[in-house]
Amino acid sequence: MQSNSVYIETYGCQMNVADTEIVLGILKKQGFSVTDKPENADVILLNTCSVRDNAEQRIYGRIGNLKTLKYNKPGLVLGILGCMAERLKKDLIENKKVVDLVVGPDEYRRLPEYIDIAFNGDKGIRVKLSRTETYDDIEPFREDGLSAWISVMRGCDKFCTFCVVPFTRGRERSRSLASIVTELEDLSKRGFKDVSLLGQNINSYLDDKNDFADLLAAAAKVDPTMRIRFTTSHPQDLSDKLLYTIAEYPNLCNYIHLPVQSGSNRILELMNRTYTVEHYLELIEKAKKIIPGVSFSTDIISGFPTETWEDHLATIEVIKQVRYDGAYMFKYSPREGTKAYKMKDDVPEDVKSKRLQEIIDLQQQISYEKNQELIGKEEIILVEGFSKKSDEFFSGRTDTNKVVIVPVNERIKVSDYIKVRVNKATSGTLFGDYLTHIYPEKEGIALTV
Ligand code: 5AD
Ligand code: SF4
Repeated sequence: MQSNSVYIETYGCQMNVADTEIVLGILKKQGFSVTDKPENADVILLNTCSVRDNAEQRIYGRIGNLKTLKYNKPGLVLGILGCMAERLKKDLIENKKVVDLVVGPDEYRRLPEYIDIAFNGDKGIRVKLSRTETYDDIEPFREDGLSAWISVMRGCDKFCTFCVVPFTRGRERSRSLASIVTELEDLSKRGFKDVSLLGQNINSYLDDKNDFADLLAAAAKVDPTMRIRFTTSHPQDLSDKLLYTIAEYPNLCNYIHLPVQSGSNRILELMNRTYTVEHYLELIEKAKKIIPGVSFSTDIISGFPTETWEDHLATIEVIKQVRYDGAYMFKYSPREGTKAYKMKDDVPEDVKSKRLQEIIDLQQQISYEKNQELIGKEEIILVEGFSKKSDEFFSGRTDTNKVVIVPVNERIKVSDYIKVRVNKATSGTLFGDYLTHIYPEKEGIALTV
């Protein structure tokens, strides 16, 4: 087969970034080369996201842009992968005539074959979801670097009423622990130092008798100099065993992404989140006791159907009580096929915007105050590269996922762990002075202070 070149754009969450690496792994094995310029490609793929309407609108806009490339190069194959493929298959092929190929998230293994069919002029829709596909044996294609992502499970069985993921990505299934450990060993050999384990509902991971805490413990043991992160945790499934495991291993990051979505029990019930605010807050307190210094981030949806001013104030109250280190905050976006789609989207757009802005402003103030409290304190960071703004500064991250900027000096190089003292802080960034190097493999000490 001649070497065709493929260009791929990724939208949405980290799971999609990891999926793109799987797709490239599959295509490269079949002799495809990868290009970062769409105008040079024989195949253009968009790995899409459906979680909110604005993501889909952006992708529709992009398909419109790519039309011109297709007119100039009639043999060019344009394919849609991921969550939109699953959701909008007919519309994409029939109405957006420029699309040749629509392939859902469980059908990537056969992508080379489908691309061949498209080269021969036939359009195709392949969106069957699988109960077993985990791409366990596929080696993802990754550029060298310090940070990597591994999907350890796929799909979601939670069926939160606002969420399209159970429909676009199908039922939960986990990869084998052994294959994940092998992948971590390879990443360690290649010098990766910060690996995030991914799953939509990662606490439900199960391989035979191994639960997610067992997986984390096994991951931590692969390389004590490699930091391990994970996302996303559901408040119903975050076990004590998991909290104790995080506390036990120094290279398991003291950082938990724990979406609350709303602070109102009435709204949580309508969302089918299966916990109460009281349970959530108890969990946070327990985690803080078991893992000293743990930090939290969250997801919040503003303007879910029937949300009143009181419900909104309850959300504000939770944010004030937990004092998150960070939050992803969204306006409710009705998704066809979900249970909430059948409820009336009755919070007016301007009210949604106003509530969201209040939440964003509050969170920003809290992030600022929490970062100010760190001034004068020591932190351990992994040096990741020059700062975005200047080659005179390095940028690194703490195990709690905060960015720290330090002046370049000849002792420091990328991939070092260093201890710094924080001297200045904004809501999004810490600034620090170099104190000393940390050698976790020799000293067996925590990667956090
Ligand atoms: N509208 C707004 N936000 C949503 N999310 C998921 N579905 C929707 C929706 N329909 C948010 C949730 C979830 C995050 C990944 O995206 O907060 O945790
Ligand atoms: Fe969606 Fe809820 Fe599953 Fe998260 S846990 S992916 S919000 S259904």
